[in-house]
Amino acid sequence: MAHRRATEAGVPTDLILGSATNIPFENASVDTVVMTWTLCSISDPLSALREIRRVLKPGGALHFVEHGLSPDPAVERWQHRLTPLWRHISGGCHLDRKVDDLIRAAGFEILELRTCMRAERGQQFRS
Ligand SMILES: C[S@@+](CC[C@H](N)C(=O)[O-])C[C@H]1O[C@@H](n2cnc3c(N)ncnc32)[C@H](O)[C@@H]1O
Repeated sequence: MAHRRATEAGVPTDLILGSATNIPFENASVDTVVMTWTLCSISDPLSALREIRRVLKPGGALHFVEHGLSPDPAVERWQHRLTPLWRHISGGCHLDRKVDDLIRAAGFEILELRTCMRAERGQQFRS
């Protein structure tokens, strides 16, 4: 899908298949990593983030869009309750990962973090 869409967009790509926990690149060889909606599904997210850090050049950036643990305790409780069932029917997706903590635990410094939640009646607010 990525290859087709990049081709349609006129962006030359070199598609390499592999796992985020064993990235087939040299140390400090990559300028930028983009990760979208994936950390929830990787069985060992900390290993994947350490791999991403390994392949990034010094000063390189990881840009990410992920869903994670809610700051609302009531929602958080449901995320913990539902994840054991949910991950079995959703390709391993965990609803209750604290993404920013994982990223920091892998040795990254977060320079910018924007979070948002859906409020009732479809209103969106930022936290
Ligand atoms: C919710 S999908 C997101 C797909 C896509 N990144 C997007 O934004 O639409 C989660 C993805 O994580 C991928 N995934 C799971 N474990 C992985 C791993 N160890 N390395 C790389 N990707 C992995 C799955 O193959 C799946 O495509």
